[in-house]
Amino acid sequence: MVEDATTIAVIGGTGSEGSGLSLRWAKAGLDVIIGSRKAEKAGRVAGELNEKLAEERIGGLANRDAAAAGVLDVVLFRSAAHRPILEDIQPALAGKILIDVTAPIDPKNPARVQILEEGSAAVQAQAFLGEDVTVVAAFQNIAAGHLQDLDHDIDSDVLVCGDDRAAKETVIDLAGRAGMRGLDAGPLINATVVEGMTSVLIALNKRYKSRNAGIRITNISDQRPVTS
Ligand SMILES: NC(=O)c1ccc[n+]([C@@H]2O[C@H](COP(=O)([O-])OP(=O)(O)OC[C@H]3O[C@@H](n4cnc5c(N)ncnc54)[C@H](OP(=O)(O)O)[C@@H]3O)[C@@H](O)[C@H]2O)c1
Repeated sequence: MVEDATTIAVIGGTGSEGSGLSLRWAKAGLDVIIGSRKAEKAGRVAGELNEKLAEERIGGLANRDAAAAGVLDVVLFRSAAHRPILEDIQPALAGKILIDVTAPIDPKNPARVQILEEGSAAVQAQAFLGEDVTVVAAFQNIAAGHLQDLDHDIDSDVLVCGDDRAAKETVIDLAGRAGMRGLDAGPLINATVVEGMTSVLIALNKRYKSRNAGIRITNISDQRPVTS
């Protein structure tokens, strides 16, 4: 369970997806610190988000300071920025859960799935960070446009992949706090497909002139997953 007093650091939180998640968690009463390469930019964007929320729940710091302030850390970056940012914040992550939202997208052809050599960005992150950090992959299929529209009920599931069941339960709880159903979608390597689904959703958006396509898993009851 995520305690009410939990501070969530959203590294890359000045972007559209990170801002949207930050708004949703802050609206649910959690404290959020967004990170940026520039502390001033983080502070400015945090101020804009607080105005939207009509309360002061979001702060802004340089990425590394934000990561240190978080009990739970979330990263969201384009693939090119993913590794350098992980190198920057690594010292602040020891012993923590890192939620990786990154979906590797080819900027030249975003609607075509790009599969990394290691399988997924989250697998890459876990290999780089080592056993001291528990990486969980989630939220890659949730459209920023829907997250940012606080009046909109999000009609999409969050597929949560990771190798540590307790950490996945925490992230499923966090999805619930943001108004979404989180589902345990298996080990971290399964994030390869979930990250790839982001390009599939972009292809659907293009083909059907939509902006915020999402996914919903059918025929799963809302009871807790079986434990063996
Ligand atoms: N947008 C969506 O609807 C959506 C939906 C699902 C999944 N995603 C995934 O979520 C991730 C973030 O998406 P986004 O749209 O929020 O991304 P974004 O706005 O392009 O980038 C997020 C942040 O990354 C930082 N950044 C940009 N270029 C960088 C670089 N070269 N080096 C270091 N930092 C850099 C910027 O922060 P500072 O300048 O403040 O440092 C930026 O605000 C991506 O992997 C994307 O595929 C996005």
